[in-house]
Amino acid sequence: MTFDYADRIKRLPPYLFAEIEKKINEKKAQGIDLISLSIGDPDLLPPKFVIEALKQEVADLKNHNYSFSQGEPDFRQAVSEWCKKRFNVDLQPDQVVALLGSKEGIANIARAFVNPSDYVLVPDPAYPVYANGSTILCDGTVVPMPLLEENNFKPDFESINTMKAKMMFINYPNNPTAATIDKKFLEQTVDFAKDNNIMICYDNAYSEITYDGYRAPSILEIDGAMDVAIEFHSLSKTFNMTGDRIGFAVGNKTLIAGLTKVKSQIDSGPPVYIQKVAVKALGAYFSSEIPEFLKQNNQTLQERRDLLVETLCKLGYKCDKPKATFYVWVNCKGDSIKFAAKLLDVGVAVTPGVGFGKYGEGYVRITFTQPSERIAEACNRITNAF
Ligand SMILES: Cc1ncc(COP(=O)(O)O)c(C=O)c1O
Repeated sequence: MTFDYADRIKRLPPYLFAEIEKKINEKKAQGIDLISLSIGDPDLLPPKFVIEALKQEVADLKNHNYSFSQGEPDFRQAVSEWCKKRFNVDLQPDQVVALLGSKEGIANIARAFVNPSDYVLVPDPAYPVYANGSTILCDGTVVPMPLLEENNFKPDFESINTMKAKMMFINYPNNPTAATIDKKFLEQTVDFAKDNNIMICYDNAYSEITYDGYRAPSILEIDGAMDVAIEFHSLSKTFNMTGDRIGFAVGNKTLIAGLTKVKSQIDSGPPVYIQKVAVKALGAYFSSEIPEFLKQNNQTLQERRDLLVETLCKLGYKCDKPKATFYVWVNCKGDSIKFAAKLLDVGVAVTPGVGFGKYGEGYVRITFTQPSERIAEACNRITNAF
């Protein structure tokens, strides 16, 4: 018997990291101590009050029934209050939906709005879910928007072919380039979307992981954005809760309603106890200021960032200290897979930029979500590799 994959699965691009992954597995099998700076999964722990809340909420037997596809009312209320405090954005209850992590919402939004003939504008390089899990798995067509160093890794809207484009993904603070933006860029994005009748899916997963006083804006702060935009947020990075799978989308009512409609046929919302924990986590914000635990978290990340960037610059590799995210995007002056393989030989795994799209070639992404002493050891190894 043979079971053939659906055509949309066959259209997913080949896995570019296969060769690197084979090498990683070989090293591991040989018992080599590998430092993985390739995945953005925080080593730092959720704050203590979150763990206490989790223990309490999971023990409450009322919290083990089905939730709602749109999420618990108190969770949505907490999200609205957080958006008001953090961005001064006002939201009605029907402008919020709970997500099983923002990845789920990013993938499902296309199911609600993308038809087979529709084009979706996707940054290149980018978090792969916009092109793959979202657009291709909904039979849409990916139109890449190159993010070039000469444009500070922002799309050049004037050069984009908007024909048949219905949806656009935008992500700042950006993965993988770690680029950040100001409100002026968001105004241009909203104008471009309105002029061309394109819905904006704004991914703000890293809004709270920022340094040097930078505060990431929400696109919903921009006049008129509510007419065209949905914004995705996550507790994964803010509270070091990647495995707990909790996020949310906010914004335009029609976009939220479409996403909720899809979800009502697929899931029944995140576990109630996780939503209750999230209410307490988001309640740690009292103003637009970041709370104390996050200041400490970001201070630790910033020290690692500085060490990595200084090491790479000393070796002659161009990279700026990013104002946000836990990624360093390094111009590796050539083939990114070869560069990653060279570092693998000294026991450091990084991600070749080409894995994030054609325009990611010539760069590698290095994460700093390993304990500080491991980052220091990785820096020694990188120095010895050259
Ligand atoms: C840019 C970006 N968006 C969204 C996500 C998804 O995060 P989660 O599903 O954990 O909320 C990630 C995860 O790495 C990411 O890098």
